[in-house]
Amino acid sequence: MKLEIDGHRLISEIEALASISDAEAPAVTRIVFTSTDLKARAWLKARCEEAGLAVRQDELGNTFVRWTGSDSTLPAIGTGSHIDAIPNAGKYDGVVGVLGGLEAIRALQRSGFRPRHSIELLVFTSEEPTRFGIGCLGSRLLSGTLSADVARRLKDSDGATLDEVRGRAGFGGELEAVKLPSAYYKAFVELHIEQGPLLERRQIPLGIVTSIAAPASLRISIEGSGGHAGGVLMPDRRDALCAAAELILAIENAAQATGAVDTVATAGICEVFPGAVNSIPSRVRLSADVRDTNLKRRDGVTGEIESASRAIAAKRQVSIRTELLNADAPAECAPAIIEVLSASCRKHNLTFLPMVSRAYHDSLFMSRIAPTAMLFIPCRSGYSHRPDEYASPEDIVRGTLVLAETLAALAR
Ligand code: GLV
Ligand code: MN
Ligand code: MN
Repeated sequence: MKLEIDGHRLISEIEALASISDAEAPAVTRIVFTSTDLKARAWLKARCEEAGLAVRQDELGNTFVRWTGSDSTLPAIGTGSHIDAIPNAGKYDGVVGVLGGLEAIRALQRSGFRPRHSIELLVFTSEEPTRFGIGCLGSRLLSGTLSADVARRLKDSDGATLDEVRGRAGFGGELEAVKLPSAYYKAFVELHIEQGPLLERRQIPLGIVTSIAAPASLRISIEGSGGHAGGVLMPDRRDALCAAAELILAIENAAQATGAVDTVATAGICEVFPGAVNSIPSRVRLSADVRDTNLKRRDGVTGEIESASRAIAAKRQVSIRTELLNADAPAECAPAIIEVLSASCRKHNLTFLPMVSRAYHDSLFMSRIAPTAMLFIPCRSGYSHRPDEYASPEDIVRGTLVLAETLAALAR
């Protein structure tokens, strides 16, 4: 089997997909179920059909692209990632795993390889939490980690329910049907950019993920009292934004206080109402995103944030409501799949670094229903979730080659 990755086509497809965006280049914004997301899905479906693959979409828009194996009764080998992008993102997050997965399948087809197990590219709906506040929506439902009932209660910031939004996007039917039957996949492998600096710093071309850190997120609503910026004297104020400022620093302190490099916390959203220069902020909506490789320590930090909220609320006479949107356990990748990935690297004389994923991925949830592992490629300076995110064509081709080799080994 001679595997050749068509790097030119793969890179030009990454560029083409990046041009379907709500932000001006080089930034990419593609929020789930917007018309831009639907346009990107249609573009991708056409590329998959050109490759002779069968495309099906489930009730949530998770997209399954199948190359049927010689024994279609066997569980499939899955690969894939996401094409939704947070506001002001880059071109590679998720996309490398989707278009790299497609090119890995095409390279295997060209090589004359015939899989025994079907090989399936899976494009997950809403890996990013932008619209519904919770990440990995597709894989949570596929794996049964999130129930259809809880999913139905999710709303976007305009108050539209998930059912309304997916219905408008053309995805009907019951969400209960999204959950995959048991043993649907024999294995799942996700190719992704590292989103951190280690591979580049150590000049190692590939990373094999051994575990995925545990994420948690909170929505925080602060209610104070508004009023005229000239008229209300300082002792009489209950300024919601001043309370938020203290809480943002408390979030940072809570992560720093563990003393562990693996603990991180971010307040990424701060919406101020009414947002007028001469009006005291009466309401603020904050978010907190907390991650750690150690579950107990991560829960300790979310607990600290909750107790800081209570203390600041009492001190500043405001009300602070914290809502835990998700608190997931970390995932251990499957040793058997790690071994197949390692053997594929060795076969191509490529060195690799066993590593932890500090970002979350749909693989976090796929690992609950299938033996799962991830392959990382370097990205410049570790940048991700910003427009200057960059992975070199050489690194993308290398990752795709090892992915193709791995899929072949698993599908035999
Ligand atoms: C995924 O995009 C994450 O925030 O880790
Ligand atoms: Mn992302
Ligand atoms: Mn991603």
